[in-house]
Amino acid sequence: MKISNFNTWLGLAFFFIVKSADAQVNIVPQPESLRLLKGNFIFSRSTIISANADSIFLIAIQEIKQLRKDRAGGTVNLISFTKDVTLKPEAYRLNIEPAKISIAVSDKQGAFWAVQTLKQLASTSAFKTNNTWRLPALKINDQPKFSWRGIHLDVSRHFFDIDYLHRFIDRLAFYKFNKFHWHLTDDQGWRIEIKKYPELTTKGAWRKLNNQDSACLKLAAINPDYNLPEKYFKMIDGEKMYGGFYTQDEVKVLIQYAGSKGIEIIPEIDMPGHMQAATKLFPWLTSTGSVQKEKKFTDPICPCKETTFEFAENIFREIAHLFPSKYIHLGADEVEKSSWKNIPECEALMKRENLKSIDEIQSYFVKRMEKYFNSMGKELIGWDEILDGGVSPTATLMYWRAWMPTAPKHAAEKGNRIIMTPGEFCYFDAQQDSHSLQKVYSFNPLGFGLNEKEQRYIMGGQANIWTEYIPSEQRLEYMLFPRMMAMSEVLWGHQQDFGAFSQKMNQQYETLNALSINYRFADLKGFTENNVFLKSTYLKIDAPKNAVVHYSTDGTAPKMTGPKYIKPIFINKTQTVKTAIFSANGRMGDVFTANYVQSNYIDAVLLKNPKPGLAFSYYPKFYKSVNLIAETDKTKTATTGAIEIPVEKKAASFATRHKGFFYAAEDGIYSFFLRSDDGSVLKIHDKTLVDNDGMHFAIEKSAQIALKKGYHPFELLFLEGGGGYTLELAYSVNSRERKAVTTKDFVVVRSAIDY
Ligand code: ACM
Repeated sequence: MKISNFNTWLGLAFFFIVKSADAQVNIVPQPESLRLLKGNFIFSRSTIISANADSIFLIAIQEIKQLRKDRAGGTVNLISFTKDVTLKPEAYRLNIEPAKISIAVSDKQGAFWAVQTLKQLASTSAFKTNNTWRLPALKINDQPKFSWRGIHLDVSRHFFDIDYLHRFIDRLAFYKFNKFHWHLTDDQGWRIEIKKYPELTTKGAWRKLNNQDSACLKLAAINPDYNLPEKYFKMIDGEKMYGGFYTQDEVKVLIQYAGSKGIEIIPEIDMPGHMQAATKLFPWLTSTGSVQKEKKFTDPICPCKETTFEFAENIFREIAHLFPSKYIHLGADEVEKSSWKNIPECEALMKRENLKSIDEIQSYFVKRMEKYFNSMGKELIGWDEILDGGVSPTATLMYWRAWMPTAPKHAAEKGNRIIMTPGEFCYFDAQQDSHSLQKVYSFNPLGFGLNEKEQRYIMGGQANIWTEYIPSEQRLEYMLFPRMMAMSEVLWGHQQDFGAFSQKMNQQYETLNALSINYRFADLKGFTENNVFLKSTYLKIDAPKNAVVHYSTDGTAPKMTGPKYIKPIFINKTQTVKTAIFSANGRMGDVFTANYVQSNYIDAVLLKNPKPGLAFSYYPKFYKSVNLIAETDKTKTATTGAIEIPVEKKAASFATRHKGFFYAAEDGIYSFFLRSDDGSVLKIHDKTLVDNDGMHFAIEKSAQIALKKGYHPFELLFLEGGGGYTLELAYSVNSRERKAVTTKDFVVVRSAIDY
């Protein structure tokens, strides 16, 4: 039973009823069932911890004893651990009574997760008193829905040292993640010591600053979290180089540390593509024997030469010995397979192995590597490109390409197990806006058109963090939190509705403050980026509970020493107001800009025979900007009822245009909110009102316009570059509640005469 499910136990008189779901108990991820009882248990230095000698309790007891050391003395009471073999893996039963806490588990993960739940209960300030923990009496029965609850981190594009990774593991454990997918190599740097090929790290781990570094440094002028930490620079042969790597000894220590917290580390050595850190040192790995100019992706290693397999096997032998994990990740994504065309060795291989296409060369590589992994007792995971050219039934697939919507079904039909990481929900390198948290919370790893039988192949899911534009720990934590908490609830599997989660987050933010995590603050709302007023108006900020907001009106970033927002700000002239949330220790959140200009109402146009709907045009081409859409590329027109992405969404790249008239039901200031992935532009009266153009993840932009009652020319342009498929338009009138546009909001005319 969930805590929100009060009705079922409201009648039970012997339970102490707390009034609402936000009543101080907020555990992330939400337990499967939770029942609050009367009273408290005081965890103090005087608490006795009891368990039999079973090794499954060892780590949990170690942690709880460590926590006990930091507490003050108190009344003698008891925490007892018992084994219950009827419980599932990772499950725990937690009963807190005033004199005793009983924890029952069947394995060490269960015991460890129970302790995390105790920490979550205690870390909420409401339960903290005098350095002892006041834990509410309750009964929890808990177990995860998914066995794979992962976070991936790319340490190649930007490096994160081993000390930080210990803290990173702490974060994962606290939210009951059990897999750390460590993306150790890529074009931009090789990060793990390989004893057979020391150059991979003595040279391959270091680089001169690249385009992504320069972009970060540019952004650092506004946000210092984009700076590349000085500790990752080193002079090599008189040149300042960026990078770093992990020695095998460091890796062993991290594996041990993560293992003690129930977290398995899965190494990824990405092959045959994304290998430039190695091919620059060993050009003989490529098909031509030299590193070619980059096409769409960098030159892969060549699966048509035995020397390549020798190299790959030498590396994976060391990896398999180092990592106790059941799985090794081969990568196999984004391979520039065209590099294998017209190569004598590849033609010979195709003939010998009866391969029909270059896709089958990729498949040959993956299958052969899988056999090698299996010979060392390991199983292979690959990104969903391992489907190309045919997949072995025993490989596990990591689904990421949202523009391949049938890939999970296709894999499950073949009996492949799947880990879900589709970009639109799981790519935490995507910038955040006011929708991001809810988007992650809406992720359903069992969706994607899978029937009940196929759903059994879903092991779980994972958030992926690619670090091209994440150079520092501060920036990384900002991208992780709070989205990681929403992901934790999804994968643990007992999430409530988003409203209940948001309420819980109000207190969870206090926990993040206490842990000094650089999380992204909740959004400031109630205004758009470009606002208009008739004579005067007020900027009324809708801020999260207890948020401290400061603002500026001189164009500079808000400061803690600048004016504090306490009541709506009066506006009667053209001006810009910048606002931001500040934490007690002075940390500033995102800066929100609200521009104001005076405007008069724009007159409506007269239409003779308006019909419901919008004129829709489809352009099946790749464009980087909606300005580049050419009418000559148009292949389809239709009248459509609503603004939605058409059935062609299975195409990787295309553009659309919705054109007609917006019906303003009253004179008013209309706020439009346009969210898209990739770009979009909203024009009203043939002038750009909201500019959300370009290639990007789902981001919302907004603007206001003063409209007279009646019809106003409307045009919405959208481009899809591959994988986002998001186009949402909402509006509000005179700052009332916003609503998504519907068919009722639009009309078209039959011909120019009607307009
Ligand atoms: C990936 O994002 N290239 C797996």
